[in-house]
Formats: sequence, C-alpha cells, structure tokens
Amino acid sequence: MRDTKTRLGPNDVCWCGSGRKYKKCHMAADSHATPALEPEPKKSNAIRLDETERNAMRRACGVNAELMDYLRDFIQPGITTKRIDELVADWTHSRGHICATLGYRKSYPAHCCTSPNDVVCHGVPGSYVLRDGDIINVDLTTIVDGWHGDQSETFLVGKVSDEALRLVQCSFDSMWAAIDAIRPFSKVIEIGQAIKRHAGQYDFSVVEDYQGHGIGRQFHQRPHIPHFPDRFHGQQILEPGVCFTIEPMINLGTKRTRVDRKDGWTVYTADGKLSAQFEHTILMTEHGPEVLTQTKRGPRKGHRFTNA
Ligand code: MF3
Ligand code: CO
Ligand code: CO
Repeated sequence: MRDTKTRLGPNDVCWCGSGRKYKKCHMAADSHATPALEPEPKKSNAIRLDETERNAMRRACGVNAELMDYLRDFIQPGITTKRIDELVADWTHSRGHICATLGYRKSYPAHCCTSPNDVVCHGVPGSYVLRDGDIINVDLTTIVDGWHGDQSETFLVGKVSDEALRLVQCSFDSMWAAIDAIRPFSKVIEIGQAIKRHAGQYDFSVVEDYQGHGIGRQFHQRPHIPHFPDRFHGQQILEPGVCFTIEPMINLGTKRTRVDRKDGWTVYTADGKLSAQFEHTILMTEHGPEVLTQTKRGPRKGHRFTNA
C-alpha cells in the first residue's frame, strides 16, 4: 500500500510504506518525478506491458495465488503469525522464488504481512496466537523471475461476530465493485468512486492513508491507486498493459490509522476497532481488467462469507 497524502511534509511518514520519514526516503526521488501538488498528467505515464511481460506477470501472480491456497488450511486458532511467516518462507524458497517483503525498504523484517483485527496492514509476524473469533489479513508478495505478484485475503478464524462478518464482506465486495467498474482507458478515480458507492451503504469507513499501486518489475510503482475518489491522483488513465493492485482497507470505526512506534511498520486503526482488506493484482487488457491473482480454492466474485 502507498500513502495517499499529496502534501507530505519532510517529517511525515513516507507514502511507500517504509515507515521512514519522507525526507529520508522518497522525498528526493519524488521531486524529480511529478512536481508537487500538480495532478498527474491525463496521458498515462505508467508502465505498459507487452505480451511477453504480461505472461511473466501472469506467472508470478499465479505462483502467489498458489501460495495463498497452500496457506488457507493453516489459518486456524492456535497458529502464531510467526509460523505463518515460516510457512510462506519455506514454500517460496523451496520453489526458488523470493519473498518481496523481506528487507523491503531496507527494513521490513518478514516474508509476508499478517494483520489481525485492528491491524489495518503491514502487520509484522510475531508471537501473536490466532484465536477463535479473530479476523486476519494475510498479504503475500512473491517475486518470480523478477516480476511481482501481490494479493491479500482476510480470513475468518473460527466463529466471528456478525459485525466482523459484515466488515469482511464489505471489503471483499468493495474490491470487486472496483474491478467491475473499470474498462480500458478508465480513469483511476473510477476505482475510488465504485468503492465509495459500495462501502457507502455501510456504516464503515475507507482508509485513505494507504492505497493500491502499479506493480511489475518493481513492488510499488506508478500509478497510485487511491481507494477513495481522489481528484489529485485520479486523473491517470488505465491503458491496456497497465498492471496495478486494488486493495481497499475498510474500518469498522474511524478511517484514521497509526503506525506502531516500536516496529515502525504495523499499521493500526486509530480507535482500536476492526479493519479488513482484500487485494488482487489486476492487468488492464484491451478487453477489460484481468485478475491475475485469483486463487483456485479461495473466494471468487460474489462469495458470501459465513460462519462455518
Ligand atoms: N503487500 C503490501 C502491499 O499490498 C506491501 C507490504 S510492504 C511491507 O502493497 F514491507 F510492509 F511488507
Ligand atoms: Co499491494
Ligand atoms: Co499486498
């Protein structure tokens, strides 16, 4: 996820998710790129992939989706988030691939992100033991032959509250509403508008501090993909060949977030209430959006989440 603030001060946390101050991270690079406070040009300056490159992304995302399917049976009461991380590392390394998060921005310490309950995103795996009634987002990013696949799912652990169930359903359906809303040459803002239309039917909030992103040879690249109707980044056009993520985070209470002071990564809701998220990597083709990270065993469009 990338930070959406357009007016980052030098001492704000960088948009890239590194947890570092903007001045120590992307401030210099950004000043060479788009001039501050000007909307991005309407003509896309995003990377467009040719057919060979699209196939490379299809492969990377397919591997990432397979890993998600491998993990799903392990997401049960009693497992630690650290153990989930070990499973991710072993599965990936034994196939000769790379976990993109390890060492990301020279500091992320794990092979995936595990974000239970009031963790919005970037949860660092550790000693936390999953309990009956938890919800937990697992976010996986695998590098296959130099290309990145990125996706996440929120899992229900045992029997969860009705409120949690509704929140998870809302975040899943919001992601799909956005996917369904876009066509070749759609504007990025249509993603945020679709999410607002859908999530707006609930009494929940949409996180603005972190957003989707272009993806390919780099983990995070242009375009920015805000999950709210952002006039600033929303003018970008989704031309065929552009690859990006849609990953809305929906909160039960406030949309505001805070970063853990100790690990510098874990993002919590400011009010300690639940947060849920789903993420797919999407390729815009000449015919419409292609979801590259669809799993075989996981929820598909239209899925209804229930207590088993
Ligand atoms: N996978 C996250 C995303 O969807 C980014 C995680 S970066 C990390 O963009 F360093 F926190 F792992
Ligand atoms: Co992402
Ligand atoms: Co991700």
